[in-house]
Amino acid sequence: MPESYCGIDFGTTNSAVSIFDDKKNIAQVLFEKDRETIPTAIFFPEENTYKPIFGAAAIKEYIAGGNGRFMRSIKRILGTDLMNLKTEINEIYLSYEDIIEYFIKHLKTVAEKQNGVALEQVVLGRPVHFQDYAPEADKRAESFLKHIAIKAGFKQIHFQYEPLAAAYAHEQKLEKEKLAFVIDIGGGTSDFSVIRLGAEHKKQIDRAKDILANSGVRIGGNDFDRDLAMKCYMPELGYGTMLKPNPYNGRILPVPFGPYMTLSEWSSINTLYTYKAKKEIQKIYEESSEPQKVRILWETVQKELGHTLLNDVEISKIALSKQELISSRLEFLESKPSIAIKKQRFEESIKKDTQKIVDTMVECLKDAEISFTEIELVILTGGSTEIPYIKKELCRLFSNAEISESGKFSSVSLGLGYEAARVYG
Ligand SMILES: Nc1ncnc2c1ncn2[C@@H]1O[C@H](COP(=O)(O)OP(=O)(O)OP(=O)(O)O)[C@@H](O)[C@H]1O
Ligand SMILES: [Mg+2]
Repeated sequence: MPESYCGIDFGTTNSAVSIFDDKKNIAQVLFEKDRETIPTAIFFPEENTYKPIFGAAAIKEYIAGGNGRFMRSIKRILGTDLMNLKTEINEIYLSYEDIIEYFIKHLKTVAEKQNGVALEQVVLGRPVHFQDYAPEADKRAESFLKHIAIKAGFKQIHFQYEPLAAAYAHEQKLEKEKLAFVIDIGGGTSDFSVIRLGAEHKKQIDRAKDILANSGVRIGGNDFDRDLAMKCYMPELGYGTMLKPNPYNGRILPVPFGPYMTLSEWSSINTLYTYKAKKEIQKIYEESSEPQKVRILWETVQKELGHTLLNDVEISKIALSKQELISSRLEFLESKPSIAIKKQRFEESIKKDTQKIVDTMVECLKDAEISFTEIELVILTGGSTEIPYIKKELCRLFSNAEISESGKFSSVSLGLGYEAARVYG
């Protein structure tokens, strides 16, 4: 029986799989329309909740107004209390464990179909930390993911840090030895590794001596979406406005900021769609002193358009990587509000989060006892490194390093495939 091993990069925003086959070839699994990645998105149709739709097809179904429940960023629940909870989907209670299992199983099924062989051994990528400063939650997140992988049909499971996987993929093309620094800023986390790479190092079974440090923080593109949403979109929905004076004591309070934060975070949008949450938002609308604005919040939640709104935020963010100014008209809302954003305002909104990422990067080099100038190669990976401001803030101190940006969306899964060959081969 031929043996194949796979590497799975279960990402917050995009996932990818690579297969190392019995002829020692490595290949990326191709998803919808021959793409090397698949959006980590899932849609549960109302008429058939137990047969979800995945990836770009799920996004399409949701945007087209299909009846059902849409979810993105499900990786973000790993390490949180939500991990052991159930959520109501089309009047059925499903656990988050089941939801992630559906997705992992889909990745496995597509990979097996393409490869023609059952896949039982996997190296799964993981961030350096699922949660910040919470080693216990971190351990629980990994064992939870392992348990899901077993339920999905894998027999042997190993984990590898995502930035190390990216390093192993880049190492395949290296001719000379290099002291490398990996910067992986994705949708959910920012991860860093300092590692010695090169042809001789590659031959070692145990790479412990080459790995000088790893660090990570739970900040990524999802947080930048939230930052931008809170700064430029939510004020249009009444964020920052006041309620009517309290009839008993005359006190004037601002509208609560909780629903706006929840609506700006991919993984929590669905929690606004319960009967209770909708009622609470209706009450805020009724008590608002600027109801024309808060009405848009109310409408977004009543019509369950939260993901459509945040999708618009993400599109604006991505456009601002290339343009100085963008404007967007929210056609899906009754009042069709227009939002104009200057790049500088977006950069201001992500400044605090960027600083936390820079601090984590500095800590990684400190742990490795390596200075910025000693680094010879910086490997930039993950979609959020496309943001010019992030790239500038993170790369400016590496004055002697070559910057490599190849395979930003596939290097982690490819490296996990090489790692699978090393572990199982
Ligand atoms: N051109 C761009 N400009 C700004 N952000 C971008 C761009 N392209 C993609 N992104 C952002 O990159 C993120 C997705 O990157 P990626 O696919 O590397 O993440 P991931 O691997 O799914 O997440 P993680 O590794 O954190 O679990 C999203 O937040 C997306 O909005
Ligand atoms: Mg990633």
